[in-house]
Amino acid sequence: MKELIKALYNDNLTKEDLLFLLSLEKKEDIEQLRQRAYEVMKQNVGEFVYLRGLIEFSNLCINDCYYCGIRKSNSKVRRYTLEEDEVLECVEFAVKNGYGSIVLQSGERKDSRFIDYVCSLIEKIKSKTRSQQLPNGVGITLCVGEQSYNTYKRFFEAGAHRYLLRIETSNPELFAKIHPPEVSFERRKECLYYLKDIGFQVGTGVMIGLPGQTIEDLTNDIVFFKEIDADMIGMGPYIVHRETPFAIYEKYFQENKYNLYLLSLKMIAVTRLFLKDVNIASTTALQALYPFGREEGLRFGANVIMPLMTPSNYRKEYLLYEGKPCIDEFSDDCGECLIARIENINRPIGYNNWGDSIHFKRKSQPKKD
Ligand code: 5AD
Repeated sequence: MKELIKALYNDNLTKEDLLFLLSLEKKEDIEQLRQRAYEVMKQNVGEFVYLRGLIEFSNLCINDCYYCGIRKSNSKVRRYTLEEDEVLECVEFAVKNGYGSIVLQSGERKDSRFIDYVCSLIEKIKSKTRSQQLPNGVGITLCVGEQSYNTYKRFFEAGAHRYLLRIETSNPELFAKIHPPEVSFERRKECLYYLKDIGFQVGTGVMIGLPGQTIEDLTNDIVFFKEIDADMIGMGPYIVHRETPFAIYEKYFQENKYNLYLLSLKMIAVTRLFLKDVNIASTTALQALYPFGREEGLRFGANVIMPLMTPSNYRKEYLLYEGKPCIDEFSDDCGECLIARIENINRPIGYNNWGDSIHFKRKSQPKKD
């Protein structure tokens, strides 16, 4: 008990502390961890939950990652790319409902047609959404994978200001086991540095519960987040998809679901304790494991939620994993449901606000003495 309290209140957590906290198993210990993470969140970033309307605008992908449902070899997926008007409609809906930010996410493509399309989307979204409430337009986060320095620069100049690129795992050997040889750990890391250099607020994250992943790996993941000085974190449980090479882990996954869920919540809490003032998303994958998973993520120290805004007829084609919630035709408006859920746990919502990472703002401001 003493050890737990000591770790929870240690302002400079060591690797041993991180490992110890991630290994907690008793219900009451995990509850203490949750409460402390909530307190640290409140002190550093406040209780507001910020919304990013998530638009999955294309499921075309050049990669063949062994875990992902939209990998290029999955021929069962009907491939789509939203028309510009369809994206703009989603954006309009987001802005009308007071979401200050959107996320444009897609599979990875590097051809110039794609890059030009993304740039023009960003520009159009920006010019259409400037208003009294949002003088600089809606905040745009991009999540379109590994690109060249120049491409990232073009995206930034077009008006995107945040970028999500998960490292997936900070263990290079494990990274190599879950990706085809063309996808390289070093290159992924390099991209994160490009993004930072250009001036993006940079988000990264990992999948939790990957086959072969250990608690030590997850501990190192949290240390990695600090080392690269991430501004935002988005992570969630790894969930098996039948049409992937990792379908062989289905049984193992089904048997360990509950532990995986708890581990994902502990990862959020421990990341909050260690990084303090970053934005942490409570991801959809958490809700795939447990109906109230996303609310629980917020209770464990997350402060960002991404309501799904992809038009409902495309949603079932963007299944990175199985059991993804909100994909039937009745959940057109995920925002309303999510907002009710957030209000249910008594968290205020940061409407009409970009909800930028406080960590990023602190870094960018010269220190006052
Ligand atoms: N389970 C959980 N998360 C997944 N992702 C891709 N496939 C899966 C899966 N089977 C995550 C990856 C990627 C993000 C967009 O989705 O971490 O970076």
